[in-house]
Amino acid sequence: MANMENAQKTDKHEKKDKRPAVSPKIQELHERKAKAEAGGGAEKLAAQKASGKMTARERVEALVDDDSFEEIDLLVETKATDFGLDQKYLAADGVVTGFARINGRPVCVFAQDFSVVGGSLGLSHAMKICKAMDLAISAGVPIIGLCDSGGARIQEGVESLGGYAEIFYRNVQASGYIPQISAILGPCAGGAVYSPALTDFVFMVEGTSHMFITGPEVVKAATGETCDFESLGGAETHAKLSGVAHFVAGSEHDCFRQIRELLDYLPQNCRETPKPAMPADDPRRESALLDEISGLDAKKSYRIQDVIRELGDGHQFLQVHRNFARNLICGFIRLDGESVGVIGNNPDVLSGALDIDASEKGARFVNFCDAFNIPLLTLVDVPGYWPGLEQEHAGIIRRGAKLLYAYCRATVPKVTVVLRKAYGGAYDVMSSKHIRGDVNFAWPSAEIAVMGPQGAVNILYKSELKAAKDPEKRRAELIADYTAKFASPYQAAKHGYVDEVIEARLTRAKVIRALRFLKGKKVQGLPKKHGNIPL
Ligand code: HXC
Repeated sequence: MANMENAQKTDKHEKKDKRPAVSPKIQELHERKAKAEAGGGAEKLAAQKASGKMTARERVEALVDDDSFEEIDLLVETKATDFGLDQKYLAADGVVTGFARINGRPVCVFAQDFSVVGGSLGLSHAMKICKAMDLAISAGVPIIGLCDSGGARIQEGVESLGGYAEIFYRNVQASGYIPQISAILGPCAGGAVYSPALTDFVFMVEGTSHMFITGPEVVKAATGETCDFESLGGAETHAKLSGVAHFVAGSEHDCFRQIRELLDYLPQNCRETPKPAMPADDPRRESALLDEISGLDAKKSYRIQDVIRELGDGHQFLQVHRNFARNLICGFIRLDGESVGVIGNNPDVLSGALDIDASEKGARFVNFCDAFNIPLLTLVDVPGYWPGLEQEHAGIIRRGAKLLYAYCRATVPKVTVVLRKAYGGAYDVMSSKHIRGDVNFAWPSAEIAVMGPQGAVNILYKSELKAAKDPEKRRAELIADYTAKFASPYQAAKHGYVDEVIEARLTRAKVIRALRFLKGKKVQGLPKKHGNIPL
């Protein structure tokens, strides 16, 4: 036995020895590749890891399916010579590019390598990214950028500015054609922020990613304001205040998990529809919780997220812009396996009223879904636009009109459910029948009117109330009268502005049936170059 084992070992050993010797040309190829793959060298890579970040190559491997990444342009080098760049070797010119698979579907990827001159963008670096973008456009696949860069490579001057512009141009050409996703995984300064801003979804990682046009020192010099990287452009700042970040992750691994989850809801390009999942829930599942919410006192609030989860397959809901403009909730669910974009007023924040941030958030989401053939479900509980000097001066007329524009332009199947309030202009905006909602439902608790009973009575009966012996008693009578007449879905139903008043518990089944019916919807718009959205 021992002899046999020895014989086998000798055999293996001999086979190994018999492998052809590596030719000098192959040896040279291996050496060149190894040098380029070494990034900024062991010391810089160790510093990157010590700062809590993965290296560019580790990131790509962690994002894509195992053993699916094919790198291109590994051996590209900078042509720049000024400021000693001709004396330096910038491995892969500071960016890893290529194609791979995520959830089995092809994608293009690039990852900036901060260990090589801070991931700064020179012309060759830019053209590598452009090649990956061109490939993504030709193949009709999503592109994911993993950004970690000090911005335009200062030593390359206008060449790096031109390189950025080449990327921006492609971002805009690709917009609405293929999904574009940016993950910010370190500093992104100057020009580095504008390409992500042009993409569809921006991910940030708590604590390690920052986006800003000018850093804290320039801010201090220019305006006298004191800030640090975190308050200026950290994940929380951009997720809550500016709305630049759509998703926040606790770690880079969490970020890649979220990107893969998002991609699952999206098609590869605008010519396709999202791939349905195996239905994992009863399409006729009824909900006692929805009946309960419908029966709430009109003054009581609830979270629209709970309604959305109740409707979605397996109670799953991928929320976009979770912490920004929380008075309007957007995200993706599946209904009987199909990907659906949901927009819902959230009575739990600002009573669900529309303000500037909510309008812009909703408009961008509606535009995205429309561009990529994802049907829209709109859940309405809106008392109107949020009033006030601050909103008016900041341009709620112009900026609030964006949501209206987006809904009017959207040609994907649109199903609407009015849960409770649908007052004034906000009723029109939220995918009403008049702006071509395809199937519009209302719960019995719906109140579809120009305004709420209190406001209406105060305006309509101002003089009568002034003259009344007991104004409060008279006001209560008038409010009761108005409520009986208008605070219901039945005026709208009488005119055919809602197609059906439904019991809340049946909403999931009704919406699924409507969307199944609308699957073949086609709309031909007017022949024009493009519309002029109020920007
Ligand atoms: C060339 C750069 C660079 C840049 C960083 N580096 N940014 N090299 N051009 N834009 C180099 C550094 O010299 C250093 O090289 C290495 O990257 C790491 O940088 P550090 O400063 O040591 O790292 P850190 O302390 O982590 O700070 C990271 C940083 C900081 C916050 C990104 O480097 C920084 O503020 N960089 C400049 C950011 C900026 O203002 N960019 C705007 C450029 S103008 P060594 O050799 O020492 O390792 C722009 C306009 C384009 O982008 C507009 C297009 C529309």
